[in-house]
Amino acid sequence: MSHNTFGHLFRVTTFGESHGPAIGCVVDGCPPLLPLTEADIQADLDRRRPGQSRFTTQRREPDAVKILSGVFVGDDGAQVTTGTPIGLLIENVDQRSKDYSDIAPKYRPGHADFTYDVKYGIRDYRGGGRSSARETAMRVAAGAIARKVLPGARVRGALVQMGPHRIDRARWDWDEVGKNPFFCPDAKAAAFFEEYLDGIRKAGSSVGAVIEIVAEGVPPGLGAPIYGKLDADIAAALMSINAVKGVEIGAGMGAAELTGEENADEMRPSNEGLPGFSSNNAGGVLGGISTGQPVVARFAVKPTSSILAPRRTVTRSGEAADIVTKGRHDPCVGIRAVPVGEAMVACVLADHVLRHRAQVGGFRSWPAGG
Ligand SMILES: Cc1cc2nc3c(=O)[nH]c(=O)nc-3n(C[C@H](O)[C@H](O)[C@H](O)COP(=O)(O)O)c2cc1C
Repeated sequence: MSHNTFGHLFRVTTFGESHGPAIGCVVDGCPPLLPLTEADIQADLDRRRPGQSRFTTQRREPDAVKILSGVFVGDDGAQVTTGTPIGLLIENVDQRSKDYSDIAPKYRPGHADFTYDVKYGIRDYRGGGRSSARETAMRVAAGAIARKVLPGARVRGALVQMGPHRIDRARWDWDEVGKNPFFCPDAKAAAFFEEYLDGIRKAGSSVGAVIEIVAEGVPPGLGAPIYGKLDADIAAALMSINAVKGVEIGAGMGAAELTGEENADEMRPSNEGLPGFSSNNAGGVLGGISTGQPVVARFAVKPTSSILAPRRTVTRSGEAADIVTKGRHDPCVGIRAVPVGEAMVACVLADHVLRHRAQVGGFRSWPAGG
């Protein structure tokens, strides 16, 4: 049984453990002749890389990606994809497995230790092995390739809430996202988060976050009815990220509080290739198919489970125990989840572009007959 692959036509398989020699992935189904270099992938990986500020784990991993296969330098000197499987590898260089020897017989609360053990009868206790979010580096690498399949689309993410503190959406500025260590679009909120998260970090505690992903330039028509819905695939992809406990599309859970008049996005005639939508409560998806409006998804990331405070737990043999996780951990894993969320949405969109082409062909123009 294999559950390490996702996507139908843009297909990503990842492998590797937190404290093994390397992590990697195979991206199969990528169309040929797309320009692709290691630098293209590295730029996205560098945004997820640990140890870049005091607010993320101090594990020092350069996350240098190697392309092993699937590219070729053409006659014009440009390296392009060949349409064959693209193999990517990142070596693990800063494992400190001894940090984990004390906890080998104990289950860390909030981690996958108990569930892996009860399912498989064996677990790699060094940093959680396969359950570690180290694996998400390969999702980001695959996402960088997916972006190449989406030339007109732009997939961006931002942290919009930390603990109970929400940003002021009126101050949303995408240019701010790259200027603070939180991927936060509200400069004032970012300044507040700095002080707030320092307090949490110094107390040896942790806090959760909400991340919003916005994909602009998505053509209308992506996604398929019933079991191939674009929003369902995005929700599954985001929910598969470590520590994610909630996903919503568009107005999401808030839609339950709206009336029909408030919620249904009205349409007016337009010559822009799309109806003029008055709002985007649908998050860019109706009936599982993209409307051409921005696709908007949010996901909630739980607080880091490994904290300095001692916690109560049980051992493999069922005895009561106390546990203190040493290791190096992010006080808010939601921060580094931002590029991971972008990558998952990019992979889903790339998969749906190829699925749309396979079944329907090109994209239709609107107004119909226009
Ligand atoms: C980018 C990222 C980094 C993470 N780093 C840590 C960490 O340093 N310590 C920790 O306890 N959990 C961390 N997590 C979360 C755990 O991997 C996750 O909670 C654990 O594997 C249990 O899985 P679940 O929360 O999805 O059920 C991280 C998650 C993400 C997305």
